Amino acid sequence: DGKFITLGIETSCDETSIAVTAEGREVLSDIISSQIAVHTKFGGVVPEIASRHHLQNINGVLDQALSEAGVSLADVDLIGVTNGPGLIGAVVIGVATAKALSLAAGIPLVGVNHMHGHVSASYLQYPELEPPFLALIVSGGHTNIVEVTDYNRCTVLGGTRDDAVGEAYDKVARVVGLGYPGGPKVDRAAKDGDPDAIRFKRVYLENGSLDFSFSGLKTQVLNYINRERMAGREVNVADLSASFQQAMLDVLVDKTMLAAEQTRADRLVTAGGVAANSRLRQMLAEACGARGIRLYMPEPVLCTDNGAMIAAAAYYKYRMQGPDDLSLDAYANLPL
Ligand code: KG4
Ligand code: ZN
Repeated sequence: DGKFITLGIETSCDETSIAVTAEGREVLSDIISSQIAVHTKFGGVVPEIASRHHLQNINGVLDQALSEAGVSLADVDLIGVTNGPGLIGAVVIGVATAKALSLAAGIPLVGVNHMHGHVSASYLQYPELEPPFLALIVSGGHTNIVEVTDYNRCTVLGGTRDDAVGEAYDKVARVVGLGYPGGPKVDRAAKDGDPDAIRFKRVYLENGSLDFSFSGLKTQVLNYINRERMAGREVNVADLSASFQQAMLDVLVDKTMLAAEQTRADRLVTAGGVAANSRLRQMLAEACGARGIRLYMPEPVLCTDNGAMIAAAAYYKYRMQGPDDLSLDAYANLPL
């Protein structure tokens, strides 16, 4: 009915996802085919297997996304696709699919930075949200505090010097035997634990720095487990999960508030898989509430990888910069 229809394609890690949006912010469908069951027995994502499953699933996911939205390919006005960063063999499947559809159906194409996609998830949930705002991006591969100055522009204020927050969750989950994917499991286990049971050191780096370092915390957790086992004591997984999580989130929230202070931000957007974490959401709500900062936290399904966030980012990128051409490439690393 004349609405601008965007197709968003996401294959950068272990979810094959395609979504359809109308007028940029209205989600008509968001099909997410997760490969979690496939990778669980390996304890993490196996890149080659991920690529193969994307290839097997993507046409079916596309059909489902179009039919659930009640549109056909002929109705689509724009195709947006994650072209990095991510597992290169996985990103390639999405990009090749997007190019083939673009060429065959004569639909403009734009490449979307996956991290920019995460930030754009909030546009779907909050119709009134517009840049500028401060954003905390926390995923399996990235941890960044950024100032989003326009729909297609942002300044990185800080980032991790080693492990990403999600990566730390996943590694700790693995060593305590909670399995993959670790974040949601630690989140759940921590609810029954005491965050003050074990005192882990908080790493703040230089005074005023908005950078992070989480690899030392991971080592502290490992050392703690080894010490307990050597002493013949059983590790309390709930207490350990709660204490580890609290140590990491204390730093994350403190630095985000410091960034808000430094930039005089009065709005904060959370993005990425770890933004689904219940304790982080609670802590940010308290910290922002105390400072009068308006907090935008998309629901968990919009935090983890999905096609709708890519469609949202694509819509604005296309409006501001126009289409990419068929030489669009896939990248394992792509700066924000
Ligand atoms: O954004 P995402 O789906 O994929 C990447 O771009 O990396 O993020 C996945 C990461 C994983 O590390 C996963 O363990 C973490 O997000 N995660 C969580 C939760 N849900 C997902 N971490 C903590 N608590 C959660 N509830
Ligand atoms: Zn992601």
